[in-house]
Amino acid sequence: MELTKTFSDMPRSIVDLRSDTVTRPTPKMRAAMASAQVGDDRYGEDPTVRELEEEYASIVGKEAALFVPSGTMANQVALRTWTTPGDVVLAGERQHVLQYERMGGAINSSVQIMPVSDVGGQLDVVELAKQQEMFNFLGSSVKMVCVENTHMPAGGVPADLEVLKRIRTTFPGAKIHMDGARLFNAAVSTSVDPITYASYADSVMSCVSKGLGAPVGSLLAGTRDFIEQAWVQRAILGGQMRQGGVLAAAGLVALREMRERLSEDHERARRVAIAVAERFGAGCLDPESVRTNIIIFPHAQVDKFLDFLRERGVLGGSVAPGYVRLVTHFDVDDQQLDVALKAIAEAP
Ligand SMILES: Cc1ncc(COP(=O)(O)O)c(C=O)c1O
Repeated sequence: MELTKTFSDMPRSIVDLRSDTVTRPTPKMRAAMASAQVGDDRYGEDPTVRELEEEYASIVGKEAALFVPSGTMANQVALRTWTTPGDVVLAGERQHVLQYERMGGAINSSVQIMPVSDVGGQLDVVELAKQQEMFNFLGSSVKMVCVENTHMPAGGVPADLEVLKRIRTTFPGAKIHMDGARLFNAAVSTSVDPITYASYADSVMSCVSKGLGAPVGSLLAGTRDFIEQAWVQRAILGGQMRQGGVLAAAGLVALREMRERLSEDHERARRVAIAVAERFGAGCLDPESVRTNIIIFPHAQVDKFLDFLRERGVLGGSVAPGYVRLVTHFDVDDQQLDVALKAIAEAP
């Protein structure tokens, strides 16, 4: 499909399965960037940024949205907007906001993010309720709960709607933030509308820079009042952009044209999972558990495995000690995938 091809003058000689963040903007994105209408977004004068924000807000069924440079900043802005120093926040123990943002919650918002078990990618609702009870007993309360959809370290698992409902009812007074860096992978995999997922959260963020292929950017959405406050917090964190429309133009192409095709990445991820299970046994990885574009499995010698792949022109990564991570995306086509499948079949 022409749409998903990268520039022909930049062939990928390697099969890069390290992350979906390695995707490069499509020719259509580059053309849109070159001709984008821009203005100074500090003064609310960038029409392309406005258009992107309005489009994302309507896709997730919220009143307003804010364009920020990264998914990390979207999470950090949400924390700063919903909390005050000393507040308690609950999040899955392997979630990005807790583990991969270099203690940003403590540094930027002075909050205590308490880890909750997230086996299988879903927050443990019994444990959540216990935490709630404990903090009430201690005379404080849980101010915010963060969920991740899809849950990356669990292997790109979409959020379970029943669990989201339980979280909502357990914490009627808390703000729920959905880290939907890969919300559209979840929506495509489950056929659950992004509006339905987002309806269980007070704020939701998604990245256009991952599987959707835009070069830079994420969006944070919520009520108009929340976004007005988030606008200030983005400025404090240094995320205010000027002629951001150059980037937003690619984001619009990403939202409009790259969401549905994520199913192709999911299909390829399933083929990778089957190759892994054939090579290392179904006990290592159940291919049925791979529902989106992320494959994670244990390996006794991760470095040896990744070195072997690299020697065959395939890049992979690791997400935790003893675990390999491979991620499919539109910059890996079937021909490249075959190279990866062959390497996995022969790997130590
Ligand atoms: C689930 C999740 N949330 C947030 C982020 C942060 O996004 P960014 O790299 O744009 O800061 C990532 C990045 O990989 C992620 O996987």
